[in-house]
Amino acid sequence: MDSIIVTGNGPLQGQIPIAGAKNACLTLMPATLLSEEPLTLTNAPRLSDIKTMTTLLQSLGSEASSLQDGKVISLSSHDLTSHTADYEIVRKMRASNLVLGPMLARLGQAVVSLPGGCAIGARPMDLHITALEALGAEIELKDGYLHAKAPGGLKGAVHELRFASVGATENTVMAATLAKGTTVLKNAAREPEIVDLVRCLRKMGAQIEGEGSSTITIEGVDRLHGATHPVVTDRIELGTYMIAPAIAGGEVECLGGKLELVQSFAEKLDAAGVSVEETDTGLKVARRNGRVQAVDVKTEVFPGFPTDLQAQMMALMCTAEGEATLDETIFENRFMHAPELTRMGADIEVHGGQARVRGVERLKGAPVMATDLRASVSLILAGLAAEGETRVSRVYHLDRGYENVVAKLRGVGAQIERVKEE
Ligand code: EPZ
Repeated sequence: MDSIIVTGNGPLQGQIPIAGAKNACLTLMPATLLSEEPLTLTNAPRLSDIKTMTTLLQSLGSEASSLQDGKVISLSSHDLTSHTADYEIVRKMRASNLVLGPMLARLGQAVVSLPGGCAIGARPMDLHITALEALGAEIELKDGYLHAKAPGGLKGAVHELRFASVGATENTVMAATLAKGTTVLKNAAREPEIVDLVRCLRKMGAQIEGEGSSTITIEGVDRLHGATHPVVTDRIELGTYMIAPAIAGGEVECLGGKLELVQSFAEKLDAAGVSVEETDTGLKVARRNGRVQAVDVKTEVFPGFPTDLQAQMMALMCTAEGEATLDETIFENRFMHAPELTRMGADIEVHGGQARVRGVERLKGAPVMATDLRASVSLILAGLAAEGETRVSRVYHLDRGYENVVAKLRGVGAQIERVKEE
């Protein structure tokens, strides 16, 4: 198992290229199941989660290959040989459940293992199930697997999600593209990854309107054709690297970054005394004065403050001037990074879904442990501003969502290396 060692090394300087979005690619890839023709995704991120999705699609009979050093993914689902998403794959990555809607729409049946809980929360699939049932699917849980069928095909319907779930929106939109008639999905999620999915589906011949708003209307069609689509920029990777110069000092340009993807987050950085400037090639970020100011944050669905940037923001607040309150409203157990940051000398109190962070002058390096994807990168960010060495273990979490983190941070002057642990 690898660890990453970071030594606080003062201000950062330079450019960091931002990759395509993991959470867009993970919903774009299952769209191949909706068509017999090839789907090519460009600007794809090179991550272990993408490999897991590739393995899953291949287990269903899709042909999947990556080109240009993994930046291009070529998919074809002409002859599907299975409609079962196996527990052994699904347990590694819950986004595997995004094959449910497309398989049901294309094959009229699907068997998908329930992912089970994860470090940040219970994460049930009830919203996916009720939405697909509204389209006429019959779904039952047997031996840990969802058995779904729609013998006569899916039928369009008006359905309102109890909560604007990203995954339930993606599964329902994909399923509705081949349903008979019109589907109106209300209280739909508005995340940029969903907008990207709809743009790709439209290129495949789908009839969809309203992406990015809370109401998405899908006119079912008989079949979808092939397409080529560039994966949207990863706004969470972008936000993560925007925090690097804020926490360590200096100035970094995030290449490919767009303000519209991180508006609410950038507003909080601005309030904390961090300048965010749009350039021709991305976003330039720099700390205005000596120390950032504490700001309160509440995570919300898009366009609110993203829960996937909460851990990174907590790391920044650890050395801010004053006291910050962070309210986590999306996941019930997403403060696992707090005790690890406390090991580095942070002053944090957690009460249920709220954390109170009193800024300290300086963090101190320590051995810490990654518990989930975003928690792992928050520890690396804290290490950039800490005195001495921080050793982050279990970085396999990181590989799921960040490509080349050591090279990218080293490129702007960070002292960081990856080591094999015995
Ligand atoms: C997506 O997960 C992202 N993952 C998550 O990113 C992200 O944190 C999350 O959206 C919220 O923005 C991918 O896109 C692959 P949800 P998803 O359905 O679709 C509850 C990362 O770090 N809920 O919007 O699973 C659920 O328990 C990951 O990259 C139900 O109760 O998120 C949670 O509390 C982590 N029933 C809330 O809704 C359901 O049927 C939000 O979940 C579905 C969800």
